[in-house]
Amino acid sequence: MEWPHKDLLDVGQLSREEAEHVFRTGRYFQEINARPVKKVPTLKGRTVVLFFAEPSTRTKTSFDMAAKRLSADTFSLAKSGSSLTKGESLKDTAWTLQAMSLDALVIRHQASGAAQYLAERLECSVINAGDGWHAHPTQALLDAFTLYQEWGSVQGKTILILGDIAHSRVARSNVQLLTKLGANVRLCGPRTLMPSAVGGWPVEVGYNLDEAVRGVDAVMCLRLQLERQTSCLFPDGREYARSYCLGMRHLERANAGVKILHPGPINRGLEISSDVADCPDSLILDQVASGVAVRMALLFLYVTRKEVE
Ligand code: CP
Repeated sequence: MEWPHKDLLDVGQLSREEAEHVFRTGRYFQEINARPVKKVPTLKGRTVVLFFAEPSTRTKTSFDMAAKRLSADTFSLAKSGSSLTKGESLKDTAWTLQAMSLDALVIRHQASGAAQYLAERLECSVINAGDGWHAHPTQALLDAFTLYQEWGSVQGKTILILGDIAHSRVARSNVQLLTKLGANVRLCGPRTLMPSAVGGWPVEVGYNLDEAVRGVDAVMCLRLQLERQTSCLFPDGREYARSYCLGMRHLERANAGVKILHPGPINRGLEISSDVADCPDSLILDQVASGVAVRMALLFLYVTRKEVE
């Protein structure tokens, strides 16, 4: 059977069955990651370019590691070290890379739609590693994969996404994917950090954390995207933390064994307290580990367009 997609731009492109196929493929690669020798020849001779025009630790490192564990050749390009700083357009940069016969381009860019713009112009697979406020599909896939590892499914589970929803591509992709997979999604944050269109999203919305956390099975805290906030949207960090920093006292209102997620990077004491981030039910480092397996699965599926039988 063939994988039907050339590019991964947004989780909205994937059916529930396709997302769950990514998870099954991820579990296969996760077993390889547990071996002493974590390398297979699956993508030997293939070339993956990582083009990160915005900072990244987790996504870039895990895509690089994923490609190398599949034996692909990888090449990294940052905006600061590229000819974009000399006035070259994004399209010309991409065509230049394509002329070197790459198989996949992993792109992070500050402009929403940058990945789609390139996907429409390039023959290779384009994988969106985060574009502006729009989407972060590989993050949502690894988040759901992490929860599937815990629960087997997210069907019927209630998941609270907390914090700066308005500026978060992670929140947008997670709302789309988690609801497609059968979860109930709640959002909580200050009114000034809630998107104006949220009324049309398939979610419950609350502004009081003590109430929103009641009866949830997982809480996904978000980073305050200060670099995307153009006006003063809350009085100060201390004021924000008083109302929206997830602490142990909140977890007493959630369901027993509530799982904690955060896509990172974490601002401890602002979005999440240290005791919650480091508690036994925190899956934050499991998310990082899942990121390698899920990105191996995605590179395999999008570069070969085959499915693991
Ligand atoms: N979660 C995430 O995208 O982290 P990075 O910005 O470090 O890649």
